[in-house]
Amino acid sequence: MFASHTDTNEMLKAILKSIDEGIHVVNNNGVTIYYNEIAAEHDGLKAEEVIGRPLLEVFPSLSTESSTMLTVIETGNPIFNQHQSYRNVKGKLIDTINTTIPIVVKGKVLGAVEIAKDYSRIKQLSDKLIDLQTKIDRRQQKAVAVKDDDAHYYFNDIITSDSHMLKLIEKAKKVAKTSSPVFVYGETGTGKELLVQSIHHASAITHGPFISQNCAAIPATLLESTLFGTIKGSFTGSENREGLFELAHGGTLFLDEIHTLPYDLQAKLLRVLEDGVIRRVGSNKSFKTNVRILVATNEKPETLLQKETLRKDLYYRLNVVSLAIPPLRERKGDLEALIYSFIEFFNKEFGKNVKGIDQKAFHLIRSYDWPGNIRELRHCIESAMNLVESDYIQEEDLPNNLNISIPEKKNAFSPSLSSKESLKEVLATVEMNLIKEKLSETNGNVKEAAKGLKIPRQTLQYKISKYEL
Ligand SMILES: Nc1ncnc2c1ncn2[C@@H]1O[C@H](COP(=O)(O)OP(=O)(O)OP(=O)(O)O)[C@@H](O)[C@H]1O
Ligand SMILES: [Mg+2]
Repeated sequence: MFASHTDTNEMLKAILKSIDEGIHVVNNNGVTIYYNEIAAEHDGLKAEEVIGRPLLEVFPSLSTESSTMLTVIETGNPIFNQHQSYRNVKGKLIDTINTTIPIVVKGKVLGAVEIAKDYSRIKQLSDKLIDLQTKIDRRQQKAVAVKDDDAHYYFNDIITSDSHMLKLIEKAKKVAKTSSPVFVYGETGTGKELLVQSIHHASAITHGPFISQNCAAIPATLLESTLFGTIKGSFTGSENREGLFELAHGGTLFLDEIHTLPYDLQAKLLRVLEDGVIRRVGSNKSFKTNVRILVATNEKPETLLQKETLRKDLYYRLNVVSLAIPPLRERKGDLEALIYSFIEFFNKEFGKNVKGIDQKAFHLIRSYDWPGNIRELRHCIESAMNLVESDYIQEEDLPNNLNISIPEKKNAFSPSLSSKESLKEVLATVEMNLIKEKLSETNGNVKEAAKGLKIPRQTLQYKISKYEL
């Protein structure tokens, strides 16, 4: 049954009211015909002051050219995700991301609708972040007094005796002396931050700033102004603000999770890499910066190129030198030294005097495959150091999940029963591990993984939720 016209109208109104984004609709004469409470809140106005009145009369600072809604009515083309920053009539600074769409009926533009997402809080946070980085940067420039700060790593801090790692460090030490960009790939917790900071500290610009930004930590729409800065008035209310490139001038800019940078911004970054010239958002003045770029990802570059989340041209430019850090499961020879260094660290931290790790417990650690790599190992030892009562860490001091390890390939189908486990538990573990393995091979694609495991997709879906994978 169809609802009557009035019912539909009421329903539409109720739906529009429940959306927590500002919605503003004007007709093709530029008169507001709908304006919800959120939009009124943004502008610091009452709906009655806006509805039924021409837009340019209510917002005298706007003109036919600068108003996005009037532009959309004029051109018939939508404008997506435009950042607007302005002070409302009450003096409150509002940052919104707006999408403006023409309302087209039977080929005629009858008006426009603007949807505004409030970004003020996130914008405040990202501005604070930049301010904080400016302060840190200044502190760093004043004196290299941060040497005792354990957030600052040097090559000597990298614990390893693995031949691949040693070769990688040798290569990293050589490239540290040059100004080429470096592309670091490693699973989560493998020590990318450690390596990148070590490169900075071994470089000629070690006394320059080291600015690190995780591209995934800032909304895509704010990344450009974060990287390149803004000038006063480039949006109403925007300030003169340095971007990270300017902050990193004479030093290193580390862009982590580079593949989360929007595609068009990747193109801009490529241009900056070519000539070092940057331009603040909204400015037509450009200037040259001298910044060494280091980037990292925790997904394989080949996968990122295939998925088209990383531009090929940017990758080839960044990949002048690439360093792939092997996961911990491929360098289990490093386990012992890492464990002992963490024990030493937490002995000091907790005022304990633990001497080492018992053999059975070490065996358990060795047979686990450490998906969270060295960070996970560090947490594991920290947790054990809280519980340990004897001189040596025991099996029962270790977190329970270490029992659920992916069996090494060669004995994947010949698991053995420990005294604690039942046949059912071992079979469940084997099943879970095979599923995990297949899911990681297919990058989480359930359909592909089900095909590989030769089970229906629904069965796999059920098992994924059963094992909370
Ligand atoms: N070879 C190593 N020797 C000593 N400590 C290490 C080593 N590698 C990593 N760590 C420690 O492991 C933790 C994680 O390292 P880091 O933050 O560099 O990893 P990451 O690869 O940047 O991880 P993510 O992808 O999650 O950002 C840190 O506490 C770091 O000090
Ligand atoms: Mg990191």
